[in-house]
Amino acid sequence: MNSEKTSPPAPDGAWSPRIVAFFCNWCTYTAADLAGVSRLKYAPNARVIRLMCSGRVDPQFVLDAFARGADGVLIGGCHPGDCHYAEGNFKMLRRFQLLKRLLRDMGIEEPRLRLEWISAAEGEKVKAVINDMTARLKSLGPLGLPRQFAEWDSEVVKLTETIQEQETKEAEVTHAS
Ligand code: FES
Repeated sequence: MNSEKTSPPAPDGAWSPRIVAFFCNWCTYTAADLAGVSRLKYAPNARVIRLMCSGRVDPQFVLDAFARGADGVLIGGCHPGDCHYAEGNFKMLRRFQLLKRLLRDMGIEEPRLRLEWISAAEGEKVKAVINDMTARLKSLGPLGLPRQFAEWDSEVVKLTETIQEQETKEAEVTHAS
């Protein structure tokens, strides 16, 4: 399951929420794959962007996702104590709390940003979380930021490219120092 493979959320033209899902490679991304392999049916609304750790989710990525047309952003990381980089998920938790406050100040409703700990074995949880988030966003309706994008697929590709560029730059700086 990734941004290239997932079909558009609203093939019939009716409005359906668009979710950008930032999933940690080691746990939630693998769980999403497991859900796919196990043929667990869940709403096709999420476009997944894989990162090496939930701690790599820069707050700017979340704001960019909303600015590019997402109605909701889901972050999936390893359970506390299971992060491959020791404390990446705790770092994400602190950022999440700050982001919640920031989004509230911007008038963006709380259910539009969600953080979940989902291990590699929890394909069922991926299904439950995506279905639940989709239902909540449906009841909230479109985010309705002034910028509306018809080309959702290309917006997610652009967002993914921006994130990959930043990751590459950071890796180069780390390598050089
Ligand atoms: S490696 Fe999964 S959250 Fe850090």
